[in-house]
Amino acid sequence: MQTVTDQIKSSMASSSWIRKMFEKGIELKKQFGEEAVCDFSLGNPDVPPPAKTRDVLMRIADGAVRPLGLGYCPNAGIAAVRETMAKMLSAQQKCAVEAKDVVMTVGAAGALVSFFRAVVSPGDEIVVPAPYFVEYGAYCGHFGGVLKSVPSIPPSFRPDIAALAAAVGPKTRAIIVNSPNNPTGAIYSAEDMAAIAAIVDAENARRAEAGGERAMFLVSDEPYRAFAYDGVEVPAVLPLSPWACVAGSFSKTLSLAGERVGYFLANPAMDGELVSAVTLTNRTLGYVNSPVIGQRLAAELAEETVDLAVYDRRRRLMAKVLSEAGIEFEMPQGAFYFFAKSPVEDDLEFVEALLKEKILVVTGKGFGFGGYVRLSCSVDESIISRSADGFKRAVAALARK
Ligand SMILES: Cc1ncc(COP(=O)(O)O)c(C=O)c1O
Repeated sequence: MQTVTDQIKSSMASSSWIRKMFEKGIELKKQFGEEAVCDFSLGNPDVPPPAKTRDVLMRIADGAVRPLGLGYCPNAGIAAVRETMAKMLSAQQKCAVEAKDVVMTVGAAGALVSFFRAVVSPGDEIVVPAPYFVEYGAYCGHFGGVLKSVPSIPPSFRPDIAALAAAVGPKTRAIIVNSPNNPTGAIYSAEDMAAIAAIVDAENARRAEAGGERAMFLVSDEPYRAFAYDGVEVPAVLPLSPWACVAGSFSKTLSLAGERVGYFLANPAMDGELVSAVTLTNRTLGYVNSPVIGQRLAAELAEETVDLAVYDRRRRLMAKVLSEAGIEFEMPQGAFYFFAKSPVEDDLEFVEALLKEKILVVTGKGFGFGGYVRLSCSVDESIISRSADGFKRAVAALARK
């Protein structure tokens, strides 16, 4: 008897490469011990939350034991939290936004799923520069949406503007961009972001002229916004297009990934219908509301981040380790990943060679871009140092083939 749908069955069979490496990691650690394995496969932020987190949590705990202390809250989020978010986002996005423009969600993931539920009809296309966060496909696929990926330009992985423009057609419902990028660490320049926004605006103008009614959106997925190194700026997206929206979260910036708190922000230039729709879908998808402890925590810590210097040190160390092994890569400007070039054409071969050295990385194919592997720096510096000889041996083994 069939228990699950064909669609989910096929998703289970092709299940994420990150997940596969996660399972492989558990197996290797069981076999050889934690110390023997260098696991660069996961993006679970390990730098502790800011020190203030404990005090804030204690205060939240003090207020919790009262009627409705931990009860349901308004579907769009706690009013005071939305106010705080509006202040923070106005400064960050260089555009005045109000609490009514923000919906608190279950992480950036919940923001994206709620957004897609609100706007995607079966057959709609979501254009995305590749490589990309692979869950986008499932998030829009739940509602019949299809990802249309457009290769970015290696080695810097800046988006290919002309190719993105060419990919947009009548079925396109959104372009989704992720900068700082997972998996490449690229930060899109202000010029590139403006050019992408111009594609969206031009298409909407063309549709309006043709008497069409379906808008197209620019969605900026920004969970890594704070992770920018060497003084590089992450451009604000809201001033670039009236059709711009932001999905963000505190998973990485405050290391609150397990607490599942994020937000959806729509440009106030839109009439408010989209925010109302996302409030509704956030509810009816069963999220109901963003976790209340996480919301309060995020609001109190909105101006803080984890110690980004730790990630920067790891980034420099990883660059040294990879360079010394003769592995090609572009120094990431942001986020905490490296997208390194496989020394052989098939990056799965490279993944296997590294596995023999008990080094876990994720194939670029898992991000819609073969020939590369992703390494996450959400691990201690000692693990990065320890991996150095293994990388060299893996490269040497492939060269002998
Ligand atoms: C690019 C990207 N978007 C969205 C998410 C989801 O983040 P959140 O934990 O805020 O739901 C992640 C998580 O790794 C990510 O890398």
